[in-house]
Amino acid sequence: MTTANISDLFKHNREWADQMNRDRPGFFTGLVEQQSPRYMWIGCSDSRVPANQITGLDPGEVFVHRNVANIVVHSDLNALSAIQFAVEMLRVEHIMVVGHYGCGGVLAALHGKRIGLADNWIRHIQDVRDRHRSLLESIAPEKRADVLVDLNVIEQVVNVCVSTVMVDAWAAGQKVSIHGWAFGVHDGLLKDLNMTVANPDAMEHLYRDAVDGVWAARK
Ligand code: CO
Repeated sequence: MTTANISDLFKHNREWADQMNRDRPGFFTGLVEQQSPRYMWIGCSDSRVPANQITGLDPGEVFVHRNVANIVVHSDLNALSAIQFAVEMLRVEHIMVVGHYGCGGVLAALHGKRIGLADNWIRHIQDVRDRHRSLLESIAPEKRADVLVDLNVIEQVVNVCVSTVMVDAWAAGQKVSIHGWAFGVHDGLLKDLNMTVANPDAMEHLYRDAVDGVWAARK
């Protein structure tokens, strides 16, 4: 871990901007014109899961929404506004919901640990836990946190798919795929949870197969 202080952040920033200008002249003037990302990333706020670095994407290439435990709730105007902007204005082609192993929000939900205001937020993951209680109980206790990370991603992919934004976009024939991934903080690798939904008709069987896949991989 670095012990960077605030003045270091400005120093690093100037160095980064200088380096970018040297390596790729005109990079920033190009960005000024407009952003036209093909990707939207919905991830956890966790500092260990930075969307651009993990995927090797430059500024301008991924539209990012992050919150505690990568949850998409139908009453959350923040997430829904971000999704709407990404789909309708930026015309992204892919939305990835990305969980990560060792997620504090998921662990708190799994163990029913009280942490404060966020308990009300994490309740959404407890709903996921309760929906899959029999599956979780059939798995060794030490594997349950990772399984709940995967299940939470799969459920949040469904929530994106059934959002008004996506229902309307797909009805209008727009091509957008929703993906479910999980990131390993321990190895830096992304895992595809095989929950890639490109049209609403495919969602239900993909959901069942993805949940079965999670169970089969960890049983
Ligand atoms: Co997390």
